[in-house]
Amino acid sequence: MTAVGRATTRLDGPAKVRGAAPYAYEHDVEARAYLHAITSTVARGTVVTMDTAEAEAVDGVLTVLNAWTAPSLADTSDGEFTILQAPEVAFRGQIVGAVAAETPEAARHAASLVHVEYDEETHDTGFHVEHPAGIRPAQVNGGNDTETGEGDVDAAFAAGPAFVVDEFYSTPEEHNNPLEPHCVVAHWEPDDEVLTLYDSTQSAAGVADALAPVLGLDAGRIHVISPYVGGGFGSKGAPHAHNVLAALAAWRLPGRSIVLAVTRQQMFEFVGYRSPTVSHLRLGADADGRLVALVHDATVQTATVKEFAEQAAVPSRTMYAARNRRTSHRLVPLDVPIPFWMRAPGEAPGMFALEVAMDELAERTGIDPIELRVRNEPDVDPQSGKPWSSRRLVDCLRDGADWFGWAGRDPAPATRVEGRYLVGTGVASATYPHMYNTGSSASVRLLADDRYAVCTSAADIGTGALTALTLVAADALGVPPERIDMQIGDSALPAASVAGGSSGTVSWSSAIVAAAREFRVRHGDEPEIGATVTASTPENPALESVAAHSFGAHFAQVRVDRDTGEIRVSRMRSVFSVGRVVNPVTVRSQFLGGMTFGLSMALQEESIRDHRFGHVVTHDLASYHFPVNADIEDLDARWLDETDDAASPLGIRGAGEIGIVGSAAAVANAVWHATGVRVRQLPVHADDLLAALP
Ligand code: MOS
Repeated sequence: MTAVGRATTRLDGPAKVRGAAPYAYEHDVEARAYLHAITSTVARGTVVTMDTAEAEAVDGVLTVLNAWTAPSLADTSDGEFTILQAPEVAFRGQIVGAVAAETPEAARHAASLVHVEYDEETHDTGFHVEHPAGIRPAQVNGGNDTETGEGDVDAAFAAGPAFVVDEFYSTPEEHNNPLEPHCVVAHWEPDDEVLTLYDSTQSAAGVADALAPVLGLDAGRIHVISPYVGGGFGSKGAPHAHNVLAALAAWRLPGRSIVLAVTRQQMFEFVGYRSPTVSHLRLGADADGRLVALVHDATVQTATVKEFAEQAAVPSRTMYAARNRRTSHRLVPLDVPIPFWMRAPGEAPGMFALEVAMDELAERTGIDPIELRVRNEPDVDPQSGKPWSSRRLVDCLRDGADWFGWAGRDPAPATRVEGRYLVGTGVASATYPHMYNTGSSASVRLLADDRYAVCTSAADIGTGALTALTLVAADALGVPPERIDMQIGDSALPAASVAGGSSGTVSWSSAIVAAAREFRVRHGDEPEIGATVTASTPENPALESVAAHSFGAHFAQVRVDRDTGEIRVSRMRSVFSVGRVVNPVTVRSQFLGGMTFGLSMALQEESIRDHRFGHVVTHDLASYHFPVNADIEDLDARWLDETDDAASPLGIRGAGEIGIVGSAAAVANAVWHATGVRVRQLPVHADDLLAALP
């Protein structure tokens, strides 16, 4: 039996449980010094003076950095990385200074004694869809086109389709909040001019590449070490301003190891977040529920200092067949921090909108929501016109319906009463694009103990990637997994692409397979000790002629307290089509985690920005709500047994993020079915339902 496909518990689990797996803060480094970031308390303006005397007098303080004293950066073209170079403040929470000290307590205390005076200017953090500052970005995240269209949507709506849905759907600002806050330990060695960063990142090689121009160093002189990462959820997909801050302090204090642990509250300031989104969906359908027109116009926000455009309308380009289609994005630059990737950027908010709109179309046509989706299945990808590598959405819907017990559902809302609860069920589709990054490489080397070192700078951010890659390497070399010494999380290893876009395992495993095959070709089955081969992820020409996406179907049952409006998710069942599954244990965890994200997005997560002052007031884990164990009652996921040969050499597609796509819509649709109240603005609150409850 192959190792790939075998249920395998995390190989790094014991070390993590025993506390023997070093996270960024915990590496055994010499001469630690602790850095505490000072962030702006105005949302726009200029630092006029910074009185550091009191801070410098604190016992143990080593240095105070600010715009007047910090070393210069080599390249200030990136508005996120350019800190302490000028006194201007572009958003509240921007780094304006820092204190380094012998202890974290001294650094933090001294930072509180730095007196900053601002020349404050009027700011604007108020996102709304009609904002006059809105622009059409040149492109949106992922390199996607800002606008697409086919046919004539205006004519299609003017012709008066039998059914129309024309609604706005919105999702709030949300913050990633991995359990391990961002942390970096920076050490500058002046003799050999090497900057070592112990970082918490989704891409060790990516951090070196991104910081190199900013710091004026060759990427090879930035050594990023990140063997263990306590979650990223997208926010660790690239370095942020704190990485630059730690480097500046390391330059100032050569030989010291500068420890910068971002506080939980600072996680709401400068490490990225999901932009709020507004999606205007217009669906036109004929009498049989077949879409004749589909419009998805999305509006999102960005910072004034750097552009990031969440691609919320992108999933509507491929999801359903419609002769006349249009999608667009509008971007509103505001005096806010820079948004970034968070848990299926684009797909998660966009599919909330589309899948609730489809539920509304089902309601208006009287067609079962599953049947409605089946009727709108596209034969080929509507966007590219290419055939699908594999599109088994209908299989996911049918299998999920059986498993969940969908048959016999009363289509009318607010009809099922169980004691004090109204009970309802909802369904939604999921999709996530298949990303195959060719920019990865891996090496294979025979060790003296008859084991193989397999190396790539890949990141395991808690997903189980290390374990999956070990199984892949074992099969590729024809040895049991016990003989694989899998090494990741170090930019000195052969470069690997980011653990993002659900592309990691697909891309890295392809490089490992290529290296293992080449190793056997060159060194045979009885290689010399020390024999080594390095290879890159091969091009995959099969992908050029197909559209490759993962798919899924979510089913949710909720109960709503008739007196209080409290919403509980009693049950979720989801079925996925992701190609070949490398490790059923960890893939299942990814799915359940994604479904939990969806439940959280539907009912809990919301960053509330106080527009008078420009900051997020729900800036801790007490007031930023997300599910705890008591909120998760009965979740289960399964997947279709399949291999997608066009997708990657091993037949794998991405499985990381699809669990969150559509799952919020399934919950919101179930809330409608339970109560008859259609809530189009996440998260759904009890207050949204109270007035309508019997
Ligand atoms: Mo993931 S949000 O693409 O890092």
